[in-house]
Amino acid sequence: MTTATPFALASIPKRVEVYEVGPRDGLQNELRTLATVDKARLIEGLIRAGLKRIEVSSFVSPRWIPQLADAEKLIGMLPQRDDVIFTALVPNLKGLERARDTGLHEAAVFLSVTESHSQKNINKSVAEAINTAREVAQGARAAGMRVRCYLSTVWGCPYEGLTPVSRVVEVVKQLADIGFYQLSLGDTIGVGTPGQTAELISEMTKILKIEQIALHLHDTRGTALANALIGLTMGVTTFDASIGGLGGCPYAPGAAGNLATEDLVYMLDGMGVETGIDLDVLVEAGELAQELIGRKLAGKYLQAALGEREKVASRARSSAS
Ligand code: HMG
Ligand code: MG
Repeated sequence: MTTATPFALASIPKRVEVYEVGPRDGLQNELRTLATVDKARLIEGLIRAGLKRIEVSSFVSPRWIPQLADAEKLIGMLPQRDDVIFTALVPNLKGLERARDTGLHEAAVFLSVTESHSQKNINKSVAEAINTAREVAQGARAAGMRVRCYLSTVWGCPYEGLTPVSRVVEVVKQLADIGFYQLSLGDTIGVGTPGQTAELISEMTKILKIEQIALHLHDTRGTALANALIGLTMGVTTFDASIGGLGGCPYAPGAAGNLATEDLVYMLDGMGVETGIDLDVLVEAGELAQELIGRKLAGKYLQAALGEREKVASRARSSAS
């Protein structure tokens, strides 16, 4: 770092872990259900780029999320590698039984901090959801699985508006002892702004260690990267992201998906923060995701890189003719 490095950037982590959610969070929102073999190709592309933690599917009800009904079949097709951890969402004991049968090493339990989102998403109150998460976490750990926990609507809720930080603190205190190794804070509808993010992380570190906190930022209003940067300056070392910024609700046109993995990695590379991810190979995975989904994805770095490549190819074509 030079002496010109601003104070806030002087002590950022040297290495961060990128937790890829495209195959799960991205694909659950797509109208088009991909063939299982294509999901496996996409995941292989992500592994080639250097991603070591990939959320591949969900063991939720296929009636609720038909796009991910092939979780077992998909996991059966994935390469067995010691250096890559696959994860899937597990909503209840039935989901845990399914996850366990696939030999998955990690389960992600999930719940919301707001009542209305909890009811709409999992048909349970927040109190019921905490009990279920505890039960699932216990069962998963007994089966030798690591447990990640997601909290949704942490910044804001589509039904209840802005979420008070005090509400998040209340829920996290009730969850803190269920046995997760990491809590991923979800800006489910992408409403967060940096000041709110700083306050939230500061409150969370009174309950959890900073290493236990991950940020799961949807980019609906273009603030995901700014919020990630705040997290980074406060010492957060795990960021969830989705290839190409895949995702967005098909019933809410214009709604964006998660923070794009390439945008995050580009920023981190530029700041000298290691991720172990090769950005060029990641772009290839993004291109594949785009092809499979059948439309241009929202990721800004992806579009810039593909546009640049097209310009070079077109110059080569015109000089050859
Ligand atoms: P329910 O209908 O209340 O469940 O759904 P139930 O226990 O009453 O069971 C009803 C039927 O579903 C039964 O079958 C069960 O066997 C079956 P039937 O007897 O009628 O034939 N069932 C299951 N089948 C397969 N796998 C299961 C399972 N559980 C029950 N695990 C449930 C409750 C939680 C299952 C449902 O509401 C559900 O699947 N919800 C998931 C919704 C979801 O996946 N949402 C998106 C993920 S969360 C997210 O994206 C946010 C996040 O990204 C962070 C952020 O951005 O904030 C993580
Ligand atoms: Mg999400």
